[in-house]
Amino acid sequence: MSVYDLMIKRRSVRVYKDQGIQQDLIDKLLDAANNCPSGGNIQPLSIITIQSTEGREYLGKMIGSQPWVKNAPLSMIFCIDFNRIKKWATISNVDFQGENALSHFLIAYADLMCAAQNVTMTAESFGLGSVYVGSIQGIIDEIRDHFSIPKLVLPMMLLCIGYPESIPNTIPKLERKVITHKEKYNNLTNLEIEQAYNDKYGIFDEDPEQYFLKAYIEVIESSKQQGDRWLKLAKKRVKRLNIKNHAQFLFKLRYPTEAMVSMNQDLIKSFKNAGFNFN
Ligand SMILES: Cc1cc2nc3c(=O)[nH]c(=O)nc-3n(C[C@H](O)[C@H](O)[C@H](O)COP(=O)(O)O)c2cc1C
Repeated sequence: MSVYDLMIKRRSVRVYKDQGIQQDLIDKLLDAANNCPSGGNIQPLSIITIQSTEGREYLGKMIGSQPWVKNAPLSMIFCIDFNRIKKWATISNVDFQGENALSHFLIAYADLMCAAQNVTMTAESFGLGSVYVGSIQGIIDEIRDHFSIPKLVLPMMLLCIGYPESIPNTIPKLERKVITHKEKYNNLTNLEIEQAYNDKYGIFDEDPEQYFLKAYIEVIESSKQQGDRWLKLAKKRVKRLNIKNHAQFLFKLRYPTEAMVSMNQDLIKSFKNAGFNFN
């Protein structure tokens, strides 16, 4: 299959077979990560692989309502790693302050996601499926503590990997023309924007379960593995919050604005605890 076809076919996979992954395949995934593009080729990255029952149970418990975290036979924690670089700089008699330079940080996070995406697509090419779990950014301190992660190392992304038991049929995306601009930025009108998102998600006021298949696949995938508790809760919340459209669904229910903004303080604190300071 061509890389293009793999890209178009790929879906986030959250239900896995109870089947381990051979070490030589894991090594290939890690080689793909290691060979990703890297700003200045500095490679400010560490990847912690988790396969043990203890590690999986801990991650599953800490992340909470996402059963795929515990059920995945393999997880990778992608960390921005300035610890190794700082030590190398010190023994080489040069100052390096990635922990104080927003620019180093941003490039390192871009590197990290390039590496993670290399793993995702390599996994895909070998018949594996994967899903990112960005929720790890809410428990950085706990993850650092549990997995003996030193200062100047930030666990920023979790990737769960396994052989797919089920794969969502489709997930709606914006039309290509909405996200692409020829030569100059095309500032869409309010009407065009509304239309673009209506085209993406379809009509809002249909059966909530059908809607969740398109707009809240996590809750559907979760109910396959954990019962209907989250699904029922989500349906109740749609009613209670009086949600009337797609944007309200996203920014009142899934990512409530107040909660998102208030997370800043926790993130900044976790960064400081890890020795990062951009003031
Ligand atoms: C940065 C990032 C963070 C994500 N975090 C989560 C997560 O915490 N839990 C989850 O189930 N999926 C997570 N996802 C997967 C998205 O929900 C998924 O990519 C999106 O619904 C589109 O579906 P697709 O990947 O099948 O195209 C994340 C994806 C990205 C890129």
